[in-house]
Amino acid sequence: MARNRMLFSFLLLFSIVMAACSPKASIVDSPEFDQTQNEFIEELDVEKIHSSLKELTKKPRVAGTNSEIRAAAFLTVQLQSEGYEVEVQPFDFEKYIMPESKSLVVEGFDGSFSPASFQYSVDGNTSGQLVDAGYGLKSDYKKIDVKGKIALVAVDKTAFYELVLLASEAGAKAILLYFPDESESTNWTLGREHFEDFIPALALTYDEGKKLLDFVKKGSPVNATVEIEGARIEKLASQNIIATKKPTKVADVNDDIILIGAHYDSVDKAPGASDNASGTAVVLELARMFKTLPTNKEIRFLFFGAEEEGLHGSKKYVSAMSKDEIKRSSAMFNLDMVGSADAGNLAIQTLDGWDNIVTKAASKANEELNGTSIETTFGDRSDHTPFHNAGIDAALFIYDPVEEWYHTPNDTIEKLSKDRLLNVAKIISSSVFELTFSAIPEE
Ligand code: BES
Ligand code: ZN
Repeated sequence: MARNRMLFSFLLLFSIVMAACSPKASIVDSPEFDQTQNEFIEELDVEKIHSSLKELTKKPRVAGTNSEIRAAAFLTVQLQSEGYEVEVQPFDFEKYIMPESKSLVVEGFDGSFSPASFQYSVDGNTSGQLVDAGYGLKSDYKKIDVKGKIALVAVDKTAFYELVLLASEAGAKAILLYFPDESESTNWTLGREHFEDFIPALALTYDEGKKLLDFVKKGSPVNATVEIEGARIEKLASQNIIATKKPTKVADVNDDIILIGAHYDSVDKAPGASDNASGTAVVLELARMFKTLPTNKEIRFLFFGAEEEGLHGSKKYVSAMSKDEIKRSSAMFNLDMVGSADAGNLAIQTLDGWDNIVTKAASKANEELNGTSIETTFGDRSDHTPFHNAGIDAALFIYDPVEEWYHTPNDTIEKLSKDRLLNVAKIISSSVFELTFSAIPEE
């Protein structure tokens, strides 16, 4: 009995302390809060989003080009006109340029080749004896001398880049890869990591490889010339655009940071309306909306450059954050492809496929606005990735599956839906509004 009474008093005390310590919950759940929140969301202006889209989609915004700089300048001017002090964070990134030409000429062979090259293959112009190097493994090179020669290798299970490195280590001057059966790879890349150690590499089709192997096996030495021209790695410049809203003097100010981001670059030849002028224009509108709102946390609006070349902007941003900033960052919302009329439903993706502060806030907002929750699934193909890797709760917002003209010249403004853009703007605003206790009056 005595123990029960003790437990009861403890629970009573515990709930009194908890209630006293958590005014947030009661304020956020109050009708006054809901009303201010709703009024705020109603102020979102989809026409402003649309006029930003018009400006952004005039040309592709390829990272490292003048048109990316022009888009960055547009964002800067817009943010400044809303009263923000804008920070430009410059950075360099490397881009592999595919060769302008590549060829294989085999002396005495009746017929020609149209070889393919690999991303990250080096260029070169080299002649030598062509030798059958089997599967191009260490054990093959123990039996076959390829020093100063060109290795003809059948691709089995070993990665392309490893085959190139093994041939190089064995002293080969170049390597030709082909598939010994009719299966073909779709991922024609060697990866950046070992670029400096590569030798020129070309890929042949199954038919070409087989014919060439038969020719080499006839017995007399075969000479070949491999030429790859113009392949190189270039250093290019890009920049992130950052606008920060400091917490305004309201009750319960704390030093948490909420991050909202979108990449503003596009792939080549695409106006990149869906990918990702849509996210950029929505984040710009959110920056306008939150500028004058009292919030108890800092909000940072991030516009990333060079996402399409390997998430360079977001990687740069995270790598420049101090340990303290990372610790204070409680949520990162990443908007990428948030307006396509022809994509699937709104999805939320995280790197572990689990819920976090961001997904919970957004799903709750969606329930309030649209009557349904949104399930969180796995996805790592955008700028939330470096934030997650740094330990920050981050999520991608995307209409998924994406439209079929993704990354093509047909990704145009006409194919966006104002309703869908506004829907995302509302969900994110509502979530951030709630996370920053915006309705708490000044004391
Ligand atoms: N907007 C896409 C991300 C995306 C596309 C997510 C389709 C889910 C489905 C993004 O701009 C992109 O193209 N990302 C690259 C990866 C990046 C590391 C270069 C991709 O997914 O190929
Ligand atoms: Zn993309």
